[in-house]
Amino acid sequence: MLTCEAMAETQEQLIEGLKAFLRIPSVSTAPKHTADVRRCAEHVREMLVAAGLQNAQLIEAEGQHPLVYAEWLGAGEGKPTLLFYGHYDVQPADGEWVTPAFEPSVRDGNIYARGAADDKGQVFLQIKAVERLMERDGKLPVNVRFLIEGEEEVGGEHIEAFVASGDARLKADAAVVCDTEMFAPGLPTLCVGLRGIVYGEILVKSGDTDLHSGMYGGAAPNAIMAACEIVTALKDRDGRILIPGFADSVIPPSAAERAAWDRLPFNEAEYLEKEVKSTALTGEPGYDVFERTWARPTLEVHGIRGGFTGEGAKTVIPCEALVKVSMRLVAGQTVEVATRQLAEAVKAVCPKAVQAEFRPFHGAEPSLVRTDNVFIEKSAQAMQEVFGKETVYIRSGGSIPIVGLFERHLGIPSVMMGFGLPDDNLHAPNEKFHLANLFGGIDAMVRYLELLGS
Ligand code: BES
Ligand code: MN
Repeated sequence: MLTCEAMAETQEQLIEGLKAFLRIPSVSTAPKHTADVRRCAEHVREMLVAAGLQNAQLIEAEGQHPLVYAEWLGAGEGKPTLLFYGHYDVQPADGEWVTPAFEPSVRDGNIYARGAADDKGQVFLQIKAVERLMERDGKLPVNVRFLIEGEEEVGGEHIEAFVASGDARLKADAAVVCDTEMFAPGLPTLCVGLRGIVYGEILVKSGDTDLHSGMYGGAAPNAIMAACEIVTALKDRDGRILIPGFADSVIPPSAAERAAWDRLPFNEAEYLEKEVKSTALTGEPGYDVFERTWARPTLEVHGIRGGFTGEGAKTVIPCEALVKVSMRLVAGQTVEVATRQLAEAVKAVCPKAVQAEFRPFHGAEPSLVRTDNVFIEKSAQAMQEVFGKETVYIRSGGSIPIVGLFERHLGIPSVMMGFGLPDDNLHAPNEKFHLANLFGGIDAMVRYLELLGS
């Protein structure tokens, strides 16, 4: 087996290669970065060409970020075809960083930059695994296609339309998605469940004009107070969601899956201190942390805008407020039903004289993948061989919209081999990727392809 451990110079080269990828500020949500996102797509295409893949191309659509596609189908019909998926777009980089978000820096065995783990480091390891096999053997043990998107962090409209189109470039037996986490350092992990999501905003309007809070306070409705009333009427102080019918259809995890979670190494106090970094956990009574974050739906507020938030004081009754919210969904729920339930609940709890409306932006269905197939089994085996521990099966609370779409439109399972770590600061300042996971990830992917081809 090829191991990165043994190849010191190669490690340096790999780090340099990843740095070049991380320097491109491909923030998909920010219009001012549109050209950077495109440049990043071009960079991915070039990496795919350098790895020996064929037909490398950008798939473009008006007003959307490019998809990057490439293939190598030389293994022949008798061998399986894998569809590698990842995303080259990243979240915005606001907040306080130790070193700038787009100037990658290596410290204590980690590389720090926006997108390091989510998801450029993991896309990079997929490409480098293929490159390594190509260099060594001049061919691959299986057929591969790559589909790397630039809109995952904003809901992935472009890829959704492409996957639904039935394009021949998508013909594959399984998808390999590297965009999740290892449960703990050195513990090989397959993610077999993701939550879905509905994201949108609640618009609240209490009148046609802002008012003097002395002259009218006590008699006039206040849009921000109304927004707060609405939000607190949707979820109680114990974390129970009060949207009527919301959790009624939730399918709980099986006894076997529950038992597997109970065997995972987990220390709640450490989780609170090192990851959550607060003083107490919250959430629905009667469910432990795994169930709350993996198998129960949520309602979160992401931001509230309105009224006076500048320096100093201004005595005003605001007439408008905007609340950014999302719901995470689990097996048994659907985007359509949850969206309708929230929209109706917002209307129902809206105080008098106030108009409130939920406007959805995007959604993704929850997904659970079956584990009784060769693609999952060989993946677990490859990771076990490389990392020297038995592979664990977990779910993740996050969402990767494409996984449900691959299942629905292509009928293929997704193998979610994750190499991020729980403390990699995804979507937060000081995002990092553990270099040992970059190197181990390449080795595991190389081994996976070898096992699938034999
Ligand atoms: N890679 C994450 C999702 C993730 C994080 C899965 C940790 C497993 C463990 C992905 O890039 C992401 O953040 N997705 C968004 C999707 C949304 C914008 C549709 C999410 O979950 O918020
Ligand atoms: Mn991601």
